Parts: sequence; structure tokens; C-alpha cells
Amino acid sequence: IKRIAVLTSGGDAPGMNAAIRAVVRTGAQQGIEVVGVRRGFSGLHRGELQVLGPRDVANIIQRGGTILLTARSRTWRSPEGRAKGAEVLREWGIDGLIVIGGDGSFHGAYYLQEEHGIPVIGIPGTIDNDLYGTDHTIGYFTAVETALEAVDKLRDTGASHERIFVIEVMGRHAGHIALDVAVAGGAEEVFIPEDPKPVESVVKIVKESVTKGKMGSIIIVAEGHPGGAQAVADALAEGTGLETRVSILGHIQRGGSPVSSDRVLASRLGEAAVFALMEGEKGVMVGRTGGGITYTPLHETWEKRKDVSRDLYRCALSLSV
Ligand code: F6P
Repeated sequence: IKRIAVLTSGGDAPGMNAAIRAVVRTGAQQGIEVVGVRRGFSGLHRGELQVLGPRDVANIIQRGGTILLTARSRTWRSPEGRAKGAEVLREWGIDGLIVIGGDGSFHGAYYLQEEHGIPVIGIPGTIDNDLYGTDHTIGYFTAVETALEAVDKLRDTGASHERIFVIEVMGRHAGHIALDVAVAGGAEEVFIPEDPKPVESVVKIVKESVTKGKMGSIIIVAEGHPGGAQAVADALAEGTGLETRVSILGHIQRGGSPVSSDRVLASRLGEAAVFALMEGEKGVMVGRTGGGITYTPLHETWEKRKDVSRDLYRCALSLSV
């Protein structure tokens, strides 16, 4: 292979830049030209491509977001949109495409390969950590740190006012961020989409904690739990009459300089993706499982569900005695 392309797609995640850098520099080292696609699949069918050399990716390993920009493309969902994208890739003489993103992006990559035979390799980049085939996704570690910092701050004000804080963290379908933040932030209770439970259950827990002498409490809710944080807070207000505040952390969790674990993961997976293409692999996601690099068929990354750690879930609940 002589020329490959790389793009970032879907929600951005801290560490995507480190992955782009790793792809470009591994390519340069192996004598492969790397072309960057701007604005994900949207930019691809519009022909927004540019050759990237090793110096073009200098000074980005520490930067959040993605220098290639990203998008959630509607056009790409149609066969016509993908055909246009494939045509652009052929015009540019691209031998393989590396897609950094989450499950939506991998769907797009999978169909491109199925319909047009262009080899694609996925790199897991999403703060949600919800892809099967890798222990962690790029951006997850940073998002947890960012959310935890916010929880610590909310705890200060919550404890001073003896209030209950219900804090919503990201995770559309997954409770990975919520669980880590709940354990590390010493939360009273955690609600995750993998185990939906009646929000009223929180009333008993908080009442008990008050009788144990705890006046301020932190409740963590993943956004994907039915009703989100507001539903939990409403149940609390009605069931306890205690002063309750809701804080939805939102997109702040997607920004910021990536922590070292995300930079290292991104660097390894970026390198691995180029090696995978050189080995003739296609239609797989490179992941890191148990310390080693693994290849997982793209469709399995969303078909097989990655569960949260049930041990950690038990731990989160049992430590709030
Ligand atoms: O997939 C990552 C994620 O941050 C989810 O946790 C969240 O539900 C979603 O993206 C938000 O998407 P958008 O940036 O399009 O609002």
C-alpha cells in the first residue's frame, strides 16, 4: 500500500489528535503517504482531503478535540452518499481508510467496505467506552477525570449546604463513565442504563443515609438511564423534601487535554491501525485488550455488547454504607 486516508467521525474525544499523529507518523516511517479527511464522512464525499506530513501533526498530542474536525453525517447514511465518498477515495488513489470514532462511525466504515471494497480499519475513539473489542476507548480516561473533578467541586458546595447533588454524566447507552466516577467520587448511589431501576429507589437510600448522619450526598446518573438526572432529582424532592440540586455535566466531558492513558492508547492504536492495513487486514477495529493489540470485526464492535464491570457496580453500591 502506498497511500492511506484517515478521518475522525462522530462525537470528538480527547486523544483523537494523538491517534491522527500516530497514523501520520507511522505511515511516514513506513513509506506510506497519509491523507487527512476533514469533517469526517461529510468532508469525504465533498472531497475535503489534504496530504499530511509528520510536521503537520507536530504539537497536537496534548490537544483536545480533533484537528481534522468531525461531524455526524446524514448523507453518509445513504448508499448514494457512500458511493460519492468511494469515488473521491478512488480519485485520490487511497488504498485503505482509517476511521477514528465510535459505533456510528464504524457502521459508516463497514458499509463503505462492503459496498465498494475499500479496506477500512477502525480506531475506537469515544468517551463512552461502549465498543466491544477493546478494554478502553480513546477519550474515556480523560472524560472520567474531567467528570470527577467536577464531582469533587460539587461535593464541596453540596457538603457546605448539606444538599443532595444529582449529577448527570455522559453515556448515551453505557454506564462506564458513571460507574468509575461513582466509585472514585464516593457517590451514594449510581444509575446506569445497563441496570435501569425505579428512580424512587433513591428515596430509601438517601433517607437511610440521613439517619446514618450523612447530610450531603452525591448521586451519579448516566444520561442513558431513563429520565436522566432530572427524574432522579424529582423523585428525591417528592420523597424526601430535602434540598436537591441537579448538575448536568454535558459536553465539558468531551473537551480538554488528554490524560496520559489516552495519549498512550491513541499512539499505540494509531500505529497498530497502519500496521493492520500493511498486513492486509480490513473491516476490523484495532483495540487493546489485556495489554495486547487485538483485531475485532467491525460489526462485532456494536453487535456484541460490552458490559460494564459488574464487580465495580457492586463495589460502587457496597461502599456507600
Ligand atoms: O458518544 C459520545 C457522546 O458524548 C455521548 O455520551 C452523548 O450522548 C453524545 O455523544 C452527545 O452527542 P452530541 O455531541 O451530538 O450532542
